[in-house]
Amino acid sequence: MVGVSFIKILFMHPILLYEGCKQHPGADCISNGWTNGNRVFDCAGTLYIGDYTGGQQVSKTFSCLPDRKLIFSFTIAKFDSWDWEFVSVYRDNLLLGQISYGPYQGEQVCRLSYFPEIFEKKSFSFSSPIGKNSFQLLLEDNLQAHDEESWGFRDIKLQILNPCVDFYSECNFQGDLWRICAGNQTLFAKFVPFKIKSINILKGIRVQMKDNRFKGGNLQTYSSNQTCLDDFNFPKYQKEL
Ligand SMILES: *[C@@H]1O[C@H](CO)[C@@H](O)[C@H](O)[C@H]1NC(C)=O
Ligand SMILES: *[C@@H]1O[C@H](CO)[C@@H](O)[C@H](O)[C@H]1NC(C)=O
Repeated sequence: MVGVSFIKILFMHPILLYEGCKQHPGADCISNGWTNGNRVFDCAGTLYIGDYTGGQQVSKTFSCLPDRKLIFSFTIAKFDSWDWEFVSVYRDNLLLGQISYGPYQGEQVCRLSYFPEIFEKKSFSFSSPIGKNSFQLLLEDNLQAHDEESWGFRDIKLQILNPCVDFYSECNFQGDLWRICAGNQTLFAKFVPFKIKSINILKGIRVQMKDNRFKGGNLQTYSSNQTCLDDFNFPKYQKEL
């Protein structure tokens, strides 16, 4: 009798790839790694990256496998008297959406002007570019003047809806690569192309493996990178005679 051999991939939905400027009041907002993002604005004790006006851009490059589905979200802060100008959100040169407000929308929170503030969570869905391993996210405004109107942002998140798990034939993510990009599935031994020595596992994904010749046949569950596994040689699938 040969035991059932399989690899099972389970993941929570969606997986967090990046988060920034999440804390209160916002120590992580001050040095946040965004290009042109090295300043903060204190609005009633909460720090926002910004503030910006007059056509400014803030951007950051992310590594990601091609053609993955992602969600980019953040809280936008509208300060003072916007007159339906907007902040545009781009992935590379692709416009993902625009955020626009009028002068009397919101309520007075921190600026000493007559005009109110708004804080609102926004999210944008998109795909990572095909044939590239990175992309840039960019926010740009078309506001007019600092004493009248500006914006900032915080609670930034980048999430992936369809992550991949990479299996390698050698330790330390070397050798041949076998990539599985569909979640929550069971793969039987006959589909596993080689002996698995290392696995690249994003936070939030669990990989389970079971084979009667591996770890005494007990189900093994991994939820972080495995840089060098004991030999895990799935038996070649054989049809019963
Ligand atoms: C995958 O399965 C896990 C555990 O059963 C569940 O919590 C999760 O939501 C599932 N993910 C997807 C994308 O269906
Ligand atoms: C897992 O390995 C990959 C590839 O070397 C690396 O980019 C990633 O940061 C590692 N993750 C953790 C949590 O160490």
